[in-house]
Amino acid sequence: MTKVSMRVNGRPVSAEVEGRTLLVQFLREGLGLTGTHVGCDTAQCGACVVHVDGRATKACNVFAMDCDGAEVATIEGMAAPDGTLSPIQQAFQDHHGLQCGFCTPGMVMSAAALLDENPRPTEAEVREYLEGNICRCTGYHNIVKAILAASGQPVAVAAE
Ligand code: FES
Ligand code: FES
Repeated sequence: MTKVSMRVNGRPVSAEVEGRTLLVQFLREGLGLTGTHVGCDTAQCGACVVHVDGRATKACNVFAMDCDGAEVATIEGMAAPDGTLSPIQQAFQDHHGLQCGFCTPGMVMSAAALLDENPRPTEAEVREYLEGNICRCTGYHNIVKAILAASGQPVAVAAE
C-alpha cells in the first residue's frame, strides 16, 4: 500500500492505495464520487474523463498513486455549491446535449478542458477534441452545439 495525497475539487484528501488502484476507482470507491463513470476500462470511451492538473485525463488509464500531489477536478466540482450549473453544463441542458447521460460527465470535463485551452474553437476543433469521448445516444450534434454555445459563439439552427 502507498499513501497518496491530492486535492479533489479543491478538497485535500489522502489515503492508502494499492499500486494497481486506478484513479477512477479511487474517486468512485474511495471518495464516493460516482459522477465519474466507467464505460470501458480500456481508455476508449471517455466516460471517466477528469482533470488532473488542468488536463483532461481518462481516470481509468492512470494509477491513483501517480496522481500524488495533483489537483484533480471531477464533474462533482463543476456546479456551484448552491447547485447552479456551470456554463458548459447549462449549455448541455439548453441544447439537449445528452440523452441517457452516461457519457455526459466525461463530455463536460473534456469540453471544459477544451475551452480552457481554446476558448473559441471551431466546430471541427470541437469534434476533433471529442474523438476520445464516445456517445451512443446523441449522434454528437447537440453536444457540439452545446460546446460552441458555451464558448459564446452563435450556434446555427440545424436539423436535430
Ligand atoms: S472508462 Fe475510461 S475511457 Fe472508458
Ligand atoms: S447521452 Fe447516452 S451515451 Fe451519451
